[in-house]
Amino acid sequence: MKGLVIAIDGPSGAGKSTIAKLLSRRLGYTYIDTGALYRAIGWKARQEGVDPTDEHVLAALCSRVDVRLRYENGSQRVSVDGADVTDAIRTPEMGMIASTVSKSPAVRARLLIIQRSLGEQGSVVMDGRDIGTVVFPDADVKFFLDASAAERGRRRWRELKDKGMDVDVNVITAEITARDLQDSGRDIAPLKQASDAAYVDSSTMTIEQVVDRLMSEIERRSL
Ligand code: DC
Repeated sequence: MKGLVIAIDGPSGAGKSTIAKLLSRRLGYTYIDTGALYRAIGWKARQEGVDPTDEHVLAALCSRVDVRLRYENGSQRVSVDGADVTDAIRTPEMGMIASTVSKSPAVRARLLIIQRSLGEQGSVVMDGRDIGTVVFPDADVKFFLDASAAERGRRRWRELKDKGMDVDVNVITAEITARDLQDSGRDIAPLKQASDAAYVDSSTMTIEQVVDRLMSEIERRSL
């Protein structure tokens, strides 16, 4: 039997990647972090010193760039034209550039093809902003994972601090709030809950509670 396509959308810092990783491990599925693809395009735009809001430039960049996801010991690695950018794209600055290039129709069209080909075989947990609405509108189970802005800011701040980055929690909270506004306000495939997605507010839940909640929904919906 073909494995399920599980879509998890939601704003930055809601815990999507943490939960999706644990869920995919429990199910024996592949976790696909689609934000990494947008970050990879943002990284390339920055490396070339081009304007991340210029549609013509981004369309030309997309027609020649080679973005790939591969898996090493169960972890996703991202490469751009042969360079491994997995760690370099995980900064707040790259998050903001990713959000900016993600407004581009050319970028979204190019990455849509990659995302669909990664998920078409099933047995995937895919997280992003438009997985349940655009990438896989027929996904077997959809979630919209949310949390309060203050809690999301705190989580992202802790994550960056653990990686040794010297960051201010208020600055991080303001950054993700600005990013969410940009992601939910764009014309194409904005961040929004699919009508058939289960809404989960994780603000006061532990990681285990969220995973259990999602697992029971998956069991219920896939019976
Ligand atoms: O999930 P993330 O924070 O790594 O994503 C970075 C940006 O990429 C996010 O702010 C908006 C964009 N993105 C998107 O538009 N659609 C997706 N499916 C995933 C990410």
